[in-house]
Amino acid sequence: MSWDTVTLDFDGDVATLTVNRPDAMNALNVETLEAMGEALDEAEAEGARALVITGAGDKAFIAGADISHMRELSTTEAQAYSELGHRVFDAIESFPAPVIAAVNGYAFGGGCEVALACDLRVASERAVIGQPEIDLGLVPGWGGTQRLPRLVGDEHARRLIFFGERVDASDAYELGLVGEVVAHDQLDGHVADMAAELAAKPKHAMRVAKEALNAVHEEPQQAGLAFERRAWSGLFGTHDQREGAAAFLEKRDPDFE
Ligand code: CAA
Repeated sequence: MSWDTVTLDFDGDVATLTVNRPDAMNALNVETLEAMGEALDEAEAEGARALVITGAGDKAFIAGADISHMRELSTTEAQAYSELGHRVFDAIESFPAPVIAAVNGYAFGGGCEVALACDLRVASERAVIGQPEIDLGLVPGWGGTQRLPRLVGDEHARRLIFFGERVDASDAYELGLVGEVVAHDQLDGHVADMAAELAAKPKHAMRVAKEALNAVHEEPQQAGLAFERRAWSGLFGTHDQREGAAAFLEKRDPDFE
């Protein structure tokens, strides 16, 4: 499937969503956000068991919200733009399978926020990441003020947001902003291998694992622990749970559904 500024490709059970506006560093205008939302729906409807998000071209992952679109926005228009971004990024976060950001270059503002909404982040050595909105007289508008401190801790988040600092891939790794840094020309292959491995895991258990991990940020701890108790016992009796235990005990590979 493809839209003017987004493509969605499948390789078996793995879907790859590519933001494709390389001339504008893949900045997210309204059309692109809407296309991303439709692509996420499509990937879910097609039963993707892992999703990769990346940017087209060799410079940018996503350089943020579209600054030329933002230039003359009224407060009401800005609210609609913010809400659209939030809807799409929430859909990434709640996508019913693991989502990996393949951060292949600049990831600023809304680009960093796309990566934050994903489950896992792998950066190329060329990645540069930051929330530079302060220098546009703004603050992160698509989840950065909430998701960034949860990922890297309050101190680092304040530094990144207050200074608008742009960090390279190795500093991003040190901060915990990305989980791994790989050579630029190995990024796609490495992420494809990760995604294929995740897609082959038991589907239902993977979905529940993601829901339970998301609950860490959405629920107070006791509610999250209660969710985990329900989710854990709810997996018993499924084919994959029985097969997983049987395969281990019989010393053979599991045959998951
Ligand atoms: N929006 C719109 N256009 C953008 C853009 C953006 N976020 N980022 C880059 N572009 C455009 C440039 O205007 C330029 O267009 P023209 O060729 O028509 O002049 C083109 O992409 C190439 O950009 P540069 O010439 O600047 O390329 P560079 O290699 O010198 O620099 C860059 C690349 C470091 C990414 C630089 O473009 C940059 O700093 N971009 C802005 C990053 C930014 O501030 N992002 C935050 C946006 S605000 C936000 O995201 C708010 C939110 O939380 C919702």
